[in-house]
Amino acid sequence: MKDLFNKPLLDAQALYKHFAVGRKPSLLDRLRGTAKPVSMLHAVDDVTFTIGKGETLGLVGESGCGKSTLVRLLTRLLDLTDGSIHLDGEEIGHLPAKGFGRSPYRPRIQMVFQDAGDSLNPRFTAFTAIADPIRRLKPIPREALKARVEELAGMCGLPVELLGRFPHQLSGGQKARVGIARAIAVEPDLLILDEPTAALDVSVQVVILQLLEDLKQRLGMSYLFVSHDLNVVRLLCDRVMVMYLGRIVESGPAERVFRYPAHPYTKALLSAIPHFDSLSGDAGHATPRLRISGEPRSPIDPDPKVCRFYGRCPNGTEACSQAMPLLQGVGPGHSVACHFPLADTAAADIAKPDPLIEDVA
Ligand SMILES: Nc1ncnc2c1ncn2[C@@H]1O[C@H](COP(=O)(O)OP(=O)(O)O)[C@@H](O)[C@H]1O
Ligand code: SF4
Ligand SMILES: [Mg+2]
Repeated sequence: MKDLFNKPLLDAQALYKHFAVGRKPSLLDRLRGTAKPVSMLHAVDDVTFTIGKGETLGLVGESGCGKSTLVRLLTRLLDLTDGSIHLDGEEIGHLPAKGFGRSPYRPRIQMVFQDAGDSLNPRFTAFTAIADPIRRLKPIPREALKARVEELAGMCGLPVELLGRFPHQLSGGQKARVGIARAIAVEPDLLILDEPTAALDVSVQVVILQLLEDLKQRLGMSYLFVSHDLNVVRLLCDRVMVMYLGRIVESGPAERVFRYPAHPYTKALLSAIPHFDSLSGDAGHATPRLRISGEPRSPIDPDPKVCRFYGRCPNGTEACSQAMPLLQGVGPGHSVACHFPLADTAAADIAKPDPLIEDVA
């Protein structure tokens, strides 16, 4: 299975998305030559990664770090400021977001949204919601469509009798199943899941995560799994990327990153989560090992020479304000963007007992 990961399904290189913010200069300002340059908010800055065939890549980071913007670039809902996106070797990054809905690539990347209730059209029954992408992207005759929607409902554990119901007549878990059935309806190669279980009760979360895992095995899809729930990421993902203020600060095999975080921010994130031995997340809290305080730096016109975590990082020194740390290898498939990667990573051997779990036991 892992060999399949060698040939990437998705190859994102040096992605940038900057938004102009603030007042645009008036014509008078421009004529007088007093126009100030427009400020730019760096939502995604120099992000490079791949997703292998059949692989699940986790994307974690605090609110506002750029996860949804990155997802919108990949699903081609937003135009890139710069960079390239190859899907199975073909460049899709240059295709304008406007009109991508009609592109032959559209069915190949589908999305499951955070709140199925919000993302479903209240005027669509479950049947219509699931049939909608098929009608738009891969039309088939009416009878075949009915059979296909029923098949998808069955695959997602949604009783066929519920297909006539509207979203307000379905439970949270049932709406999530409709959202998933809709996303897999056109047989995507890549499913992007943006906090797919965040709006669900814990018991329902577990069932939906199990469903996602089963569907992945059955249909051979790749997943980009965006979540703030690190327990879930550790359990479901082959690799993980940690994002901070628009940049990837650490990436690597999930098990290795979770055991041996090399970036202070990753370590702080891990320190803050409940013990990650069980999906139910009720096994107590890890002892805080690294705390961060203070406000994040501004994403508007950030100094390209200063580490984005500087000022909040307990390990920061003057050097961190003089050169932006770039991703560098610290182990097999494991990279970190920090001038002072955490020391225990170099000697990390994932065959050893997990020191973090031992600490908190
Ligand atoms: N259309 C937009 N115009 C201006 N700024 C935006 C826009 N969309 C997102 N941003 C900004 O980009 C940054 C990243 O946002 P987002 O991708 O939504 O983060 P996350 O999903 O990690 O919470 C935030 O500072 C947000 O305010
Ligand atoms: S480069 Fe410096 S400020 Fe940035 S994460 Fe590393 S130690 Fe902290
Ligand atoms: Mg978001």
